[in-house]
Amino acid sequence: MIFQLLVLATSVLSAPLDPRATTTCVVTSYAGFATCASSTSIHIKGPITVPANEVIDWSGLKSGTEVLLSGTVTFTKGTLKESGPKLITVGGSGITFKGDPTDPGILDGQGASYWDGKGSNGGVPKPKFFRVETTGTSVFSNFKILNAPVQAFSIGGSDTTLEHITYDNSAGDSKGHNTDAFDVSANGITIQNSWVHNQDDCLAVNSANTVNFLNNICIGGHGISIGSVASGAVVENVLVKNCTVQSSTFGVRIKTDYGATSGSVSKITYEDITLKDISTMGVVVRQDYENGDPVGKAVSKLPISDVTLTNVHGTVTSSADSVFILCATGECTEFTWSEINITPKKTSCVGVSPTGC
Ligand SMILES: *[C@@H]1O[C@H](CO)[C@@H](O)[C@H](O)[C@H]1NC(C)=O
Repeated sequence: MIFQLLVLATSVLSAPLDPRATTTCVVTSYAGFATCASSTSIHIKGPITVPANEVIDWSGLKSGTEVLLSGTVTFTKGTLKESGPKLITVGGSGITFKGDPTDPGILDGQGASYWDGKGSNGGVPKPKFFRVETTGTSVFSNFKILNAPVQAFSIGGSDTTLEHITYDNSAGDSKGHNTDAFDVSANGITIQNSWVHNQDDCLAVNSANTVNFLNNICIGGHGISIGSVASGAVVENVLVKNCTVQSSTFGVRIKTDYGATSGSVSKITYEDITLKDISTMGVVVRQDYENGDPVGKAVSKLPISDVTLTNVHGTVTSSADSVFILCATGECTEFTWSEINITPKKTSCVGVSPTGC
């Protein structure tokens, strides 16, 4: 008791001397997420179980809050819907959310208890996992997302980096569906040095200005995508560099909605991309998506322009197209192709200039 009083006295006395000193609020149970939400230094110390139909709402963290994650946080299966709250939401300016270097921390979504092969198209309701709505040079790094029910990261906000993220949904290869890794509708987002094994897009950029996707490995899913871009949406300045896509249906792709009447996709660069065992199409650009599926005829007033593909190489399976382009006449322009070496070569290019096929 005397010792504790001394410690207390010391910290009170030392506080004015060191303005940076903050007491870390430690979360060791679900209730702690609410208790610590107004602290600027938080340690999530698993194991922690989040009860069914409860979520972590940290949408309003204080500016500059630092969060450290260690151990495992398990989200009990519930009945929240894809359109409802995400299992965890983090928002605020200048936030850092980092795994402990010696025990990086796992967020376990218990995907296997939801997966029914239907994803967001039906079956049991499935919540999205992680909503990022941070701004002002925020960083998420060095932790693992395990077994997301459906989409993993829904990224809004701006000026945020996600790095050294592991997203392991490999257990869902037979029944997981729509388990996108990073869905981006935000400006100034960098995603780098991360590893993904899932069953849908590794990256899907729907509406954004300035997205960098660097040094990432994508396994098992639908590749690195812009879109589907809906009528009226604008995607500009996307750089995808030094990434590997393997055992996936597509390598790199740009897809926009059939019949779009406005919007644009421009300044897109895919550089130093390795493809391995791509089963449908290595490179694909198409303007014929309707309700999530291609219809086979491109009709569009949503131009795709200034697209650079440099050093895109590797393999597709024997039945796959190495390059497939289906654009409305005059709507895919300023394509710059160099060092495209995808084998076996089988190409189909309609409506793009210059053609590159
Ligand atoms: C390219 O990405 C891989 C991970 O996929 C990484 O190990 C490597 O260091 C990166 N290379 C450069 C030049 O950044």
